[in-house]
Amino acid sequence: MMEGMLKEGSLKGKTIIVTGGGTGLGRSMGEYFLELGANLAITSRKMEVLEKTASEMMQKYNAEVLPVACDIRNYSEIEQVIDQVEAKFGSISGVVNNAAGNFISPTERLSNRAFDIVIDIVMRGTSNFTLAAGKNWIAKKQPGAFLNIVTTYAWTGSGYVAPSACAKAGVLALTRSLAVEWAKYNIRSNAIAPGPFPTEGAWKRLFPGEVAEQIDPLKRIPLRRFGDHQELANLAGYLMSDYSAYVNGEVITIDGGEWIQGAGEFNGLEAISSDMWDMLEKMRSKK
Ligand code: HXC
Ligand code: NAP
Repeated sequence: MMEGMLKEGSLKGKTIIVTGGGTGLGRSMGEYFLELGANLAITSRKMEVLEKTASEMMQKYNAEVLPVACDIRNYSEIEQVIDQVEAKFGSISGVVNNAAGNFISPTERLSNRAFDIVIDIVMRGTSNFTLAAGKNWIAKKQPGAFLNIVTTYAWTGSGYVAPSACAKAGVLALTRSLAVEWAKYNIRSNAIAPGPFPTEGAWKRLFPGEVAEQIDPLKRIPLRRFGDHQELANLAGYLMSDYSAYVNGEVITIDGGEWIQGAGEFNGLEAISSDMWDMLEKMRSKK
């Protein structure tokens, strides 16, 4: 079902900020929030990308979209985003911490600056936005919802993307910590852990050149397909809506079974042919 799942108006009256909302998955989630009646603010470093996306979105959905440039590594820039969104839409109901930086590399080849850059965008950027938006909601006694986009290697770890794995693990810990601590302020914190969903940003950095052919990412997924952006948007729409009011501190995996395939000791037996199973059965029955 590659179509919108929630009923019309499910996010009516809500204002949602999506970091990294000008491209990729952030854009797809933002579009669905608009379809469901939300006001939307999108933020990232490149204003020209944000403006283009915002104008296409406004045309398509006949809705209000506010593009605001911001480097989430700088706390003061985030405070300005919050001020601008409130000035335009009145109040903020939810934040999707989606912006990220990532690339593949043997860890020993990374400079300390390269390691820092990913940690700074993913971990510090998310904690910055969370702190600024959370303090604002608490001071104004307003409810709120955080949705943090992590990955499945946030709990398994992964070679060749160690900075990203460290940072996403930190974001997951932040999600669970605040789900408890800030529940008393009526602020919910949840996360989504997507498997591979094709986007230009991820593909050119994680599967460049012949890498995709070498590791064949589809083979790693039991369902043998990548995710469709609408499938992720459906989950995000639900988690930002009041239908999920009792879901708090959860991380929902949407990866076609990818990570658990890698984890199960005997899942490699998928390679055993039917003929070979017949032979094994015969050997067993002879005993
Ligand atoms: C090794 C690298 C590198 C690479 C950059 N660096 N790319 N090192 N391999 N491929 C090093 C640089 O040499 C430099 O260190 C330092 O990192 C900073 O690089 P800059 O280019 O100056 O940084 P900046 O312009 O701020 O760009 C940040 C970035 C870039 C993270 C490097 O890729 C970016 O803007 N990314 C944003 C979008 C993104 O990454 N999207 C993908 C998310 S996908 P030195 O020491 O030389 O100065 C994702 C999916 C996960 O997370 C799961 C998928 C299944
Ligand atoms: P993407 O299109 O490259 O999105 C990343 C976004 O982050 C960009 O819009 C980028 O915009 C923004 N960004 C980067 N650094 C920033 C900074 N310092 N301040 C503000 N914004 C910044 O990649 P994507 O695939 O859609 O990824 C979106 C999210 O999904 C990420 O959290 C990623 O880890 C997660 N994810 C993706 C996949 C997948 O298969 N695609 C799988 C698992 C998890 P600017 O360059 O304009 O700043």
